[in-house]
Amino acid sequence: MAVTIERSDARAWPDEQMAELFSEGFPDFIVADRLVKEYIGRVREWFTGLDLTLVDEHQVPVASGWGVPIQWDGVTETLPTGYTDALVRAVEDREKGLEADTLVICGAVVTPSLKGRGLAGETLRALRRTGEEAGLSKVVAPVRPTTKALYPLTPIETFMRWTREDGMALDPWIRTHQRLGATILSAAPASQTMTGTVAEWEQWTRMAFPESGDYVIPGGLSLLRVDRTSDHGVYREPNIWMRHS
Ligand SMILES: CC(C)(COP(=O)(O)OP(=O)(O)OC[C@H]1O[C@@H](n2cnc3c(N)ncnc32)[C@H](O)[C@@H]1OP(=O)(O)O)[C@@H](O)C(=O)NCCC(=O)NCCS
Repeated sequence: MAVTIERSDARAWPDEQMAELFSEGFPDFIVADRLVKEYIGRVREWFTGLDLTLVDEHQVPVASGWGVPIQWDGVTETLPTGYTDALVRAVEDREKGLEADTLVICGAVVTPSLKGRGLAGETLRALRRTGEEAGLSKVVAPVRPTTKALYPLTPIETFMRWTREDGMALDPWIRTHQRLGATILSAAPASQTMTGTVAEWEQWTRMAFPESGDYVIPGGLSLLRVDRTSDHGVYREPNIWMRHS
């Protein structure tokens, strides 16, 4: 299928088309990261050129992906701790006047009816090209493995080593990156931290949490820890750092 690539801020698409694009994307609690809320406004304003949308021949948005620029020396140990820290680094680097040299791919989504046809790979390639044109010669991604939610008890360090018989990763989203030449660098066990009251967590997950303790939650890549005494729930989302060649 023929798609064209546009900056996401090039025009406004109808609300129902955007809702469809993101309809099977992310669990409700994805918005509960306090630091992301603090930084996302500046990210959207400053790095909008790294936010792309793929449009089909009927002008419908079918995929989207975005990233941020950071300065990074290429050493795994000095990577941001994960997705959220990458946003913080990008904003703070820019505030300090540091010149970015690395694209951090932060996310991608493909419209549900067109999953599994390589559109995600096209999105990643478009992002890499755009980054390169902006002088970002290195490319990394804190990858959110889509099937990790099926294995919430498994440590991310273990999960990221699981492969199929052909040697590719068990997780399909890691495979999409691998097919583009990316390799796994390290685990990011606390890439994001989502917090909320017990009532908020009950609303986001449509579950009840009658007692303090650890819970498996729908769409959760790890466990939710609930403390009813302090009326607080914490979920730390594990991701996997990958580097594109
Ligand atoms: C992750 C995502 C972007 C991948 O997009 P995609 O265009 O389906 O990716 P690909 O076409 O490269 O498919 C990747 C693999 O997943 C498989 N797959 C994923 N979803 C599928 C589906 N609904 N039907 C069939 N195959 C699917 C593909 O067969 C492929 O497997 P392979 O390696 O054996 O060929 C997409 O599934 C999505 O939007 N998910 C929700 C948002 C999300 O989790 N984003 C990633 C974190 S930011």
